[in-house]
Amino acid sequence: MSADTRKLIRIGLVGLGTVGQGVWKHLMAHKNEFEARIGGHLELTRAAVRDLELKREVEVPPQVLTTDPMDIALDPDIDILCELMGGTDLALRVTRAALQTGKTVVTANKALLCEHGSELFALAEENHTRIYYEASVAGGIPIIKALREGLAANQFPLIYGILNGTCNYILTRMQREGKGFEEIVDDARKLGYVEADEALDLDGWDAAHKTAILAFLAHGKWISLNDMPVEGIRDVTLEDIRLAERLGYKIKLLAEIIRDLKRDTVFASVQPALVPESMVLASVDDVFNAVSVTGDIVGESVYIGRGAGQDPTASAVLSDVVDAATALVNEAKNGLYHRKQKELQIAPLEAVCRPFYIRVVVKDEPGVLSEVSAILARHSISIESVLQTPSKVKGLAQLVMTTHSTSERSMRDALLEFEHDSCIQEKPFILRIADFEQSLN
Ligand code: NAP
Ligand code: HSE
Repeated sequence: MSADTRKLIRIGLVGLGTVGQGVWKHLMAHKNEFEARIGGHLELTRAAVRDLELKREVEVPPQVLTTDPMDIALDPDIDILCELMGGTDLALRVTRAALQTGKTVVTANKALLCEHGSELFALAEENHTRIYYEASVAGGIPIIKALREGLAANQFPLIYGILNGTCNYILTRMQREGKGFEEIVDDARKLGYVEADEALDLDGWDAAHKTAILAFLAHGKWISLNDMPVEGIRDVTLEDIRLAERLGYKIKLLAEIIRDLKRDTVFASVQPALVPESMVLASVDDVFNAVSVTGDIVGESVYIGRGAGQDPTASAVLSDVVDAATALVNEAKNGLYHRKQKELQIAPLEAVCRPFYIRVVVKDEPGVLSEVSAILARHSISIESVLQTPSKVKGLAQLVMTTHSTSERSMRDALLEFEHDSCIQEKPFILRIADFEQSLN
């Protein structure tokens, strides 16, 4: 019998929480199958945790565990470090050290990549190694591979999607059950959906991190969060949801990356938006995520799936582990293909156009409607529809308007003027309408 000469690939898991335990569980269950595919052996060699005494759902031999993630990052025997700890301080130091010592890194950490991706990808290149990050965006949906490999021939004028499962769950239940934001958020907390730092989910930052990663992949540029309008869902009321329904829309927290190929600009944002019921994304509910990608050659393709949770995220991490191990077994020399486009500019607000929904509380007096429409007209904003609904306060009325396509700049200027108008009784609330035919001038 000939000796088994297949290479051994040693894996270190930094973090054995929700995702880490999923990776452990499924790697153990499917090890033989993965090894046959890879043409090498896999070993879960080490794992870092904060609390050695914590009872875990997977059985991990105690000698494998450490409380110092740097032990794994600096261990010369480890080939692949999976960073499944989260955060951006220690995670950055660990990832840097792993790359500097030539390890392949697999990460699910979208915040880390959004803040430090530029440095980390350069470090990987310098050290002739690779970073894999399928789990960082949209959980189980293989959107990273789709953009990097399956759609590599394309340029992407438009990518949009639902990238935060928690917000989608909250909006779906508000719409379905007619309950308010606070009540549903409480349920989402009890179900463990909402991140410990709630602003990540509820104020749109988690979706913004993921949007920055997709924009980098699609366009080769890291967009700073300062250049990205980001809003969460805290101000969306049940009334907005019902009004949107009357108008034929659903409200979703929508991430958009719009690239103008002629002017060579890009614009990314995360904001709640009215999605026409006829669009596929309108029926993507609960914790599901969806991404629509329009390629200049292929046209539109839409990807839908579970965006978070142990199993979908572990599935994405393990697909990276299998890829990384295969590359190591075959001694692949080159890094992963990434686009590089440092010259790409952020589109000015004047160039980003779409229809809007405006809800505004006004004095219920003669001439108010014409005053409101005059303000909009001064900014070249044309009204498409107006609905007057009663206000809870006597003497006030609520106007709900939709506009024809107008620029972000015009709408912002009109809102400033609204703020100083004596007819307007509350800060107007606006939502974008997802009409991508007209997104760019
Ligand atoms: P988690 O359940 O909180 O697990 C974090 C793990 O890291 C725990 O095992 C914890 O140890 C360990 N850890 C934390 N600080 C440590 C330290 N200083 N030293 C050693 N170990 C430390 O988090 P998670 O939900 O699995 O998320 C992990 C990563 O995946 C994050 O970047 C997250 O954004 C990303 N992600 C998560 C999901 C999801 O659905 N959960 C989806 C996509 C991406 P103890 O167990 O001892 O506390
Ligand atoms: N908090 C994230 C979400 C977890 O709700 O989508 C997955 O990245």
